[in-house]
Amino acid sequence: MTDYDQLLSQALARARAAADEEGLRALDREFLQKGGVVANLLASIPGLPPEQRKQAGQRANQIKQALEAGIAARKGELEAAALEGERSGAGFDPTLPARPLERGGLHPITQVTRELEDLFTSMGWMVLDGPEVELDWYNFEALNIPKDHPARDMQDTFFCDREGKLVMRTHTSPVQVHAMERLKPPFRAIVPGKVFRNETTDASHEHTFHQMEGLCVGKDISVGHLIGAMRTLLRGIFGREIEVRLRPGYFPFVEPGFELDARCPFCKSGCSVCKQSTWIELLPCGMVHPNVLKAGGIDPEQWTGFAFGLGLSRLVMLRYGIDDVRLLLSGDQRFLEQF
Ligand code: PHE
Repeated sequence: MTDYDQLLSQALARARAAADEEGLRALDREFLQKGGVVANLLASIPGLPPEQRKQAGQRANQIKQALEAGIAARKGELEAAALEGERSGAGFDPTLPARPLERGGLHPITQVTRELEDLFTSMGWMVLDGPEVELDWYNFEALNIPKDHPARDMQDTFFCDREGKLVMRTHTSPVQVHAMERLKPPFRAIVPGKVFRNETTDASHEHTFHQMEGLCVGKDISVGHLIGAMRTLLRGIFGREIEVRLRPGYFPFVEPGFELDARCPFCKSGCSVCKQSTWIELLPCGMVHPNVLKAGGIDPEQWTGFAFGLGLSRLVMLRYGIDDVRLLLSGDQRFLEQF
């Protein structure tokens, strides 16, 4: 009996003095787990003479429970002390430099898109959105590009079904027709968005890229309005007045159609960006074809309009000096971190 009492009081004293949880675990191994002192004690009971078994068994079990309780109590104390230490700031060095914050940033296309949206909304234009999967009607037919029209070859198309009724839009121009259906003239809207072409990719061709469509419909809208709007657009983009010139350009949905060139903002006498010509081909545009107005439910006798199709991806490349269009949608962190 005294041996047992001594054993217990010593073990409990060690539990109370344990400095950490590892000390408590050691105690648990030494006494309670298989092969430990108390476990051996319990295991020896069946070998005792029958008249001693009951009392010895009870006592051994009491010791086991008392020690378990002692260890648990000390564990609780240690945990409370650790919590208190954290609360009071002990062990925390407030002079250590903070870990640098990793901040995200906006994609360069998003940055330029938002700038242009600000510019156009400040002039009273709306910003519209449209579907990326289009009916043939909106992508081609309503834009005065009938089936078998050679202009369809200009736009290598991803078809979404066997009949060719559903396509990935090859330009943002289909949203012109959606806008006409939905809005009463006069109205002005830009449409930034993704477009898709079934092309072999290289540094200047990508299957997915960004355009920004512009459409202005009103009374007596003329080429003068078109040029004025384009010059404002370029001033917004490059931060200063940029000389422009119009060349004839063919798109079935505009008449007359133009290619608007901007005087190269990067050089005076020719550079690699303008291919030594001092002009950059930037903005296809034109007066909305009467057939397109009709397809959109607008009377071409009463209303006229102009449209443009800014190559957003190309503009972003010009702006930041990016020489490979495939970088834009590569998701490459090393590329994106630079903006
Ligand atoms: N949608 C034409 C294209 O992607 C560009 C364009 C838009 C031309 C509006 C004229 C007017 O090729």
